[in-house]
Amino acid sequence: VPIVFDELNVFTFPHSRMRKLLHCCTSKFGHTDFTSLNDFEKLLIRLQRIFKEFMAHEEIENHLVMKKLKKKLKQNSQIDDSELICDCHKVDRFTPLMALFRDGYAFIRRGNADRMSYGVKLHKAMNNFYKDFVPHMNEEENDIQPLLSKYFTEMEIKMMRTQVIKMTLQK
Ligand code: FEO
Repeated sequence: VPIVFDELNVFTFPHSRMRKLLHCCTSKFGHTDFTSLNDFEKLLIRLQRIFKEFMAHEEIENHLVMKKLKKKLKQNSQIDDSELICDCHKVDRFTPLMALFRDGYAFIRRGNADRMSYGVKLHKAMNNFYKDFVPHMNEEENDIQPLLSKYFTEMEIKMMRTQVIKMTLQK
C-alpha cells in the first residue's frame, strides 16, 4: 500500500475525530450507573449528540467525496473501481440506533430492572456499531483513498480535504 501523506489524505482528519467519539461512547458507557436517573438521561443526551456527528460525517463524505469520486469513475468508465464504492454507505447504520436512543427516554420513568435490561440492549447495539464502523473507516482509508489518489490531482485532493475539514469542524 503506497504511503499517502496526511495533506493528501481526505480521511485522516475526520476519522481521528470519529475514533475519538467512539472512545467517548465507550468510556461514557462504562461510567454510567443505570440505576441513577441523572446518569441515564445524560448518557442518552450524549449518545444522541455524538451520533448526530457520525451522521453528519457520513453526509459530508457522501456529498464531498463519494459523489465526486463516482462521477470521476463514470467519466473514466472505470466499472470495476466503481463497484468498490457502491456499497460503502448503503447500510443505514444510524436510523435504528437513533430510534433506540429515543426509546430510552421512556425508561426514565420505569424501574431499575427495566432500565438495566435496556442498558444491556444498548450496550449490545453499541458493540455492534463499533464492530461495523471501525472496519468501515479502515475500508475508506485503505480502499477509497487510493482511488482518490488515482483519479484526482493533488490539488483537487487538497481542496477536497480542506472542504471536508471545514465541514467537520462546523458540525
Ligand atoms: Fe468515514 Fe463513511 O465513514
